[in-house]
Amino acid sequence: MRGRAKGAAVAAGALTGALLLTGCGSSGSGSGSGADAGAGSGSGRAALSVASAYMPQPVSDMAAGFLTIANAGGAKDELTSVTSDIAGSVTVHQTQGGAMREVAALPVPAHGRVVFRSGGNHLMFEQLKRRPKQGENVTVTLHFARSGTLEVRMPVKAATYNPATGH
Ligand code: CU
Repeated sequence: MRGRAKGAAVAAGALTGALLLTGCGSSGSGSGSGADAGAGSGSGRAALSVASAYMPQPVSDMAAGFLTIANAGGAKDELTSVTSDIAGSVTVHQTQGGAMREVAALPVPAHGRVVFRSGGNHLMFEQLKRRPKQGENVTVTLHFARSGTLEVRMPVKAATYNPATGH
């Protein structure tokens, strides 16, 4: 994912966005991909926000985290790292074909969004310093290539929580 030529990155970004939307089922219209053409004008900047964050209550010294990153701006950005005071290490994982793999950076397309959800993209917290309980909030800091850092309050839900059903 690193080291792509600038020109190729636009097409690659659009492709990645399509893959992410496919992987996440019915999320979004996918209309954002055409907006990449505007990135070359240099007029846009990323405008990021986070919604729907949650962590299923961990049952070991590892935990998963889910959220949606939306980009209302005209420029793409990239999630480059994640940190949290409760974990020694936080990594970004993608799930493709049932297998998960760590990714060094995750593109956030202009006028698009990236959805983390069970069975798809997720944050992986390792070396937990404590095990947060349902009802607590965990503070997570997202580091972006262009937008700097974004602090997220991630509520801890039941270990079996499913946002589709609310349980
Ligand atoms: Cu994983």
